Amino acid sequence: MSSVQQAASSEPRKYQLFIDGKFVDAESGKTFATPNPATGEPLAEVAEADKADIEKAVAAARRAFEGKWGRMSARERGRLLFKLAQLIEENAKELAELETADNGKPIRESLYIDLPQVVENFEYFAGFATKIEGETIPVSGQFLNYTLREPVGVCGQIIPWNFPLLMAAWKLAPALAAGNTVVLKPAEQTPVGAMELARLIQEAGFPDGVVNIVPGFGETAGAALASHPDIDKIAFTGSTEVGKLIAKAAADNLTKVSLELGGKAPNIVFADADIEQAVNGAMMGIFFNQGQVCCAGSRLFLDERVKDEFLEKFKEKAEKVKVGDPSDKATQMGPQVSSEQLERIKSYVGVARAEGATVFVGGESPVLDEKFQKGYFFQPTIFSEVKNQMRVAQEEIFGPVSCVITFKDEEDLIRQANETIYGLSAGIWTRDITRAHRFAREIKAGVVWINTYNMFNAASPFGGYKQSGYGREMGKHAIDLYTQVKSVWVDLSGKPIGWFGK
Ligand code: NAI
Ligand code: MG
Repeated sequence: MSSVQQAASSEPRKYQLFIDGKFVDAESGKTFATPNPATGEPLAEVAEADKADIEKAVAAARRAFEGKWGRMSARERGRLLFKLAQLIEENAKELAELETADNGKPIRESLYIDLPQVVENFEYFAGFATKIEGETIPVSGQFLNYTLREPVGVCGQIIPWNFPLLMAAWKLAPALAAGNTVVLKPAEQTPVGAMELARLIQEAGFPDGVVNIVPGFGETAGAALASHPDIDKIAFTGSTEVGKLIAKAAADNLTKVSLELGGKAPNIVFADADIEQAVNGAMMGIFFNQGQVCCAGSRLFLDERVKDEFLEKFKEKAEKVKVGDPSDKATQMGPQVSSEQLERIKSYVGVARAEGATVFVGGESPVLDEKFQKGYFFQPTIFSEVKNQMRVAQEEIFGPVSCVITFKDEEDLIRQANETIYGLSAGIWTRDITRAHRFAREIKAGVVWINTYNMFNAASPFGGYKQSGYGREMGKHAIDLYTQVKSVWVDLSGKPIGWFGK
């Protein structure tokens, strides 16, 4: 029997909170419904955590941190994480189907991108548990000085809906590898994956309270977690707007914060690029996951000399993207996650027109079969004649909407590319290697892709410059976010301290 419930069941699924190793109702008894974004039909009924439940979860995480977990060896923590990775892999098909039902992303993405990366992250950090080391420092005098790298403590983690399971993995895996305990709040739009993960965490044998998962809304459960005085660290992925609220709430308790926020990435095509490859890269940059990607290449900068050739090919391919039933393996784009997101994207079509941009491709919801008429679908869309200072080029639309801007030369390009409050990622398409590496230095962004886009690996750091946030997730840098350094001094001389003792 698989641990994960089948996605196909017609009855809405039911989920409780996961606190102190047990599945429990919310203190208030409240629940909320989460729909399948492809059909608008209810998918699950989920217990709704609020302040009282956050209190319980934080207390459980504190007890676990002070208890058995805190004394567990790194090897044992690593083995639990490996076990969890294995359980996820065994249930990957069911988890992918549920992820698609909850978020709307095409099954080919859930199955072949999200789930493998979830497993990869748990495996990578499982291996890291035994490699977290201190240092010995060559100080002056007769002393041994060394550092201990210790867990931060109880971590609050708030994640978004665009990669529900993968964001849970990015947050949980390094925190647990380093020996912390966690209270994780999934997004209200997509709580299902995290609740299934809770079952697997229980099955893997993590001690009670090490991981607590509390679905609920941002303004209530999220805010209670971010402002909780007994949280040692808060990690957040989501909008820049809420990131600022989190940082403010954390300031009162001086809780450590890491933030992974919005983006408006430049994806740049020079005249010497392989145009076919660059068109495919532009598509990957903006249509992947319905454009609901913080590092989406949403500002497409085209060299004036290749603009016409590029746009002709881009239009042809964008119009062929298969939009529809996300559970169909041939589907390339599913619905947006929610009606709010769909409305937000639609409103930007009006903004673009009012600002003088052209709706070159798409710009509407597609006409689909009866079954999907209540779904939150939107066509692959390209705005041309965009100027970098327009709102559509400066604000995160978070949909399958490419804004095409042209440039004359490299200097003109760099200036425009950096003219944004964000700095999460950037892409460049060119055969000129000196230009590519020069660009990598001059762009203010945390990730740069050269002749590729949206590449990730658990070993490679990810995070933002400027208002895209601070801290780096994945790789060894993630361990820095979840550990603190203690410096220990030992006298080796055996003599009393002379200063006052004489
Ligand atoms: P959001 O930032 O409000 O939500 C992300 C998470 O934060 C959710 O778990 C939510 O419950 C929680 N949250 C919301 N308000 C909170 C508060 N006051 N205190 C603590 N936690 C809180 O994002 P939303 O409203 O879903 O989407 C709005 C826009 O944000 C999108 O259109 C997109 O531009 C951006 N966004 C960016 C993401 C990224 O990956 N960087 C992910 C999701 C949204
Ligand atoms: Mg919000």
